[in-house]
Order: sequence, then structure tokens, then C-alpha cells
Amino acid sequence: MDRDEPPVQPHPNGAAAGGILATVLGTGKRLSVNAGPALPAALSYHRSMPSRTPVILDCDPGHDDALAITLALARPELDLLAVTTVAGNAPLEATTRNALRVLTLLGRTAIPVAAGAARPLVRPLHVAVNVHGTSGLDGADLPEPGVAARPEHAVELMRALIEASPDPVTLIPTGPLTNIALLIRTYPRLLERVSRICLMGGAVGEGNATASAEFNIWADPDAAAIVFEAGRPLTMIGLDVTHLALVSAADAARMAALGTRTGRVFADLLEFFGRFHRERYGWDGSPIHDAVAVAHVALPGLVRTETCRVDIETTSELTRGRTVADRAGLTGRDPNAEIGLGIDRGRFVDLLVEAVAAFA
Ligand code: RIB
Ligand code: CA
Repeated sequence: MDRDEPPVQPHPNGAAAGGILATVLGTGKRLSVNAGPALPAALSYHRSMPSRTPVILDCDPGHDDALAITLALARPELDLLAVTTVAGNAPLEATTRNALRVLTLLGRTAIPVAAGAARPLVRPLHVAVNVHGTSGLDGADLPEPGVAARPEHAVELMRALIEASPDPVTLIPTGPLTNIALLIRTYPRLLERVSRICLMGGAVGEGNATASAEFNIWADPDAAAIVFEAGRPLTMIGLDVTHLALVSAADAARMAALGTRTGRVFADLLEFFGRFHRERYGWDGSPIHDAVAVAHVALPGLVRTETCRVDIETTSELTRGRTVADRAGLTGRDPNAEIGLGIDRGRFVDLLVEAVAAFA
């Protein structure tokens, strides 16, 4: 994968796109007053494959978020418009720095990064440094950021890109849903230009933050409730499927064997991430939760899903953040999500190794 791909063919309907993009690039009237400098030139063109799905990854890097970013950049089906960050695995400053470090490692610093919420909508911030280390991405020799984050808030960058995109955008949240909830509440009319939300979070069965709840949903259940009630096509990639997506030490060795810096870094990150899962679950390997959400958008046949009603517990402290999946239709409420229940693990691991191999 070339470093910072140059702009390729102008979009087939360049006039329209140019007009829309003119707004985003600051020459139109609709740009928010607090928008940052003009977006990278790469965004003033659309890749020669108009069939690519434009996606925005909202994340809290995080070892599995780092692989999600890498997969999103490596897949030809996807057009990663931006990476936005939220506090979760680590404080916001750390997750933002980590996103920039990963993009620097991959030679893709032209991808805009904007920081979002430093804490949940209502609850106090709880970070998962027990899983990801004090930096949020411990265990490997990652470069320092080669670029700064954009000055505008993540919600403003998402708004500008969604408005500028000739095609509806897919949102892939892989951290607490605070930024997505803020986007929905701040710009409700924008939702019609969001084709779907494919999030990593939740669980039909056992949680991991508590017995009841998965971390991303537990961290900001109020935001999750807003997202699940937003009325857009939503996929919940929860622990039921991500705990099947284990990447083992042997799989990590395939990355190390690539002989590249990126391969070495991800082998080391997986070794660090694997310690937590070995101690807590006795597993050989780690669930690469967030990359499953990206893989499902890129390759819809990879994950087995079922459609049902999912509601979020926001009042009880005991079951805070519980994703109540009504698979039997007992509530009589309309289904609002497809939930991930199975995955072709071997194919998934190959996708990750291929993605890492795409970078130097
Ligand atoms: O529960 C797993 C999720 O919480 C993943 O997204 C991981 O990165 C953390 O954010
Ligand atoms: Ca995450």
C-alpha cells in the first residue's frame, strides 16, 4: 500500500462533488465557523472506484481499534474518510495520539483525525488501561505522531465529511458511543446521509465490563440508547461474535514473519493484548473486537447475523449498559438492529494478516 496515496481520478460526477466539497474545503457558506483548515487534497478527489463504501471510524485506540484502522485502510471495498476519537480504552488525549501513531506507522497521515468527547454524556469517565496499558496502546515500538489532529471537534469533522460525500456514509464506532450520540442530537437531519451504523459493542450473553454489559456500551449507556433509537440501519457486533474472532499467538507470528515494521508492531501489540485475555479467560489469543465491525462492512458474508429488537439499560446500576436483545420478539417492539452471532474465524484472521501485510 503506497504511503499517502496521491489523489486519483476525479469523481465521475466531479462537478457535483466539487460543489459539495467546495463547501467542506471552506469556499462555501455552509462550513461551520469552528471548522479547521481545508481538508487534505486527497479528499478533493474521489478514488477511481466510486463503488467504495465511504466510512468514518470513531474509535478509542486501543489494540483492536488499531487493527480496525489498518483493516479499513487495506480493504478495497472501503474508503476511510476520517478517524475520530473518543475517550474509552484510555483518556481522549491518549486515544487521539494513538490514532495518529497508527496512521503514521501505516504512512497514511493524510487521513484526517479529530478528537471528540473526553467523557461520557452523563457518567464519569472510566478507562480500560488494565487491558490496553497506560498509553492505551502499550507493547510495541510505535512512531510518534507525524501529524497533528485537526482543530475541530470530531462531530464537526463527521458533519463536514457526511455533507461533502456524494454517497451516504457508513459510521463504524468502535468505542463508547458518545461522539455518535452527539452527532445525532446536534445534526439530526444529517442522519438521512448516514447509510448505516455498524458498531462494535454490546452482548446478547455475558458482558466484559460487568457480567451484564460490554465495555463500550457500559461506558456510556445514555449515548448508546440514543444511537440504538436513532432509526438508522444498525449492526451490533457484540461479544457473542467477537469472542469467536480470536487471533492466536500463531496468527501473530504470521505477522511477525512478514519482516516489516508494521508486521513486527502488530505482533508485539497482540502479544501484549494477549496477556490480559490469557489471564482473564485462559485463551491463546485475543478477540480483535473492533476489526470485526470493519470486516462486516467490507465483506457482508463474513459474520452471521440475526435481526431483533435491542434496548439499552440506562437506569439500573447493576445492569447498566446491558444490551437487551429480544430475539424471541417478546416485547412486541420493532426490530432495530442486526446482531452478530457467528464468524468464519479463519477467513477473518487471514483478512487481518493480509491487511498488515499491505503496509511496510
Ligand atoms: O469490549 C470491547 C471494546 O471495548 C473494544 O472496542 C475495545 O477496544 C474497547 O473499546
Ligand atoms: Ca475500541
